[in-house]
Amino acid sequence: MANFHVIIPAAGSGSRMAADLPKQYLPLAGRPMIAWTLEPFLSCERISSVHIALSPDDSHWQAHAPHHPKLSILHCGGLSRAETVLNVLKGLHVEQSDWVLVHDAARPGLTPQLLNYLLDELQDDAVGGLLATPVADTLKRADAKNRVASTEPREGLWQAQTPQMFRYGILKEALIQAGEPPTDEAQAIEALGFSPKLVIGQLRNFKVTYPQDLALAEAMIAAYHQEARK
Ligand code: C5P
Repeated sequence: MANFHVIIPAAGSGSRMAADLPKQYLPLAGRPMIAWTLEPFLSCERISSVHIALSPDDSHWQAHAPHHPKLSILHCGGLSRAETVLNVLKGLHVEQSDWVLVHDAARPGLTPQLLNYLLDELQDDAVGGLLATPVADTLKRADAKNRVASTEPREGLWQAQTPQMFRYGILKEALIQAGEPPTDEAQAIEALGFSPKLVIGQLRNFKVTYPQDLALAEAMIAAYHQEARK
């Protein structure tokens, strides 16, 4: 049976957060954000290994993040997220058919239930896929002055989340062949002619991007743990 491996690319600058620390180390509900991000994978028995890819000059890891026998720390960040992920894949010695889940460091809201749902939905799929949510808001296209140029139809549009889950061999091939760095793994798989499956995600798995997102993430984590303790 194919094993499941996880890659967390965490080598971005997080410039939109405008903080002194890289955003994955910012405190959130009493722990660094990265500790929340890692937890569902480290505690899931179906996951064989977890690999976090840091920037080569990241000196914060030791002070902020957990140790775990399943977790390997790699200082192999590249110039783009795709390059960072490919650097990890090149050093992974796993079966071509093993599954690789790529998950953003700044999505601390993934729950064990949502992770298991994704694994269940995709483990027998020919291609793989990703968590995503159908677009709920009306979409406006802006002109250069941030005035509305047009209203765009939202039918059939989804917002991509992570984890994105593909077979090791196909994902590596897709990222090697990608020209302009794709913004996510699915885009590279699409360029090979495959159609990744959209697995319905949850709002709580949003990407913490701006300073005001921290309070929302903290509230959701606190509410989830309060509910779990009942
Ligand atoms: O910049 P963005 O929020 O899209 O980054 C998504 C994920 O990719 C983050 O976890 C970030 O740390 C990671 N990343 C990376 N290497 C880069 C750029 C982004 O690992 N060169």
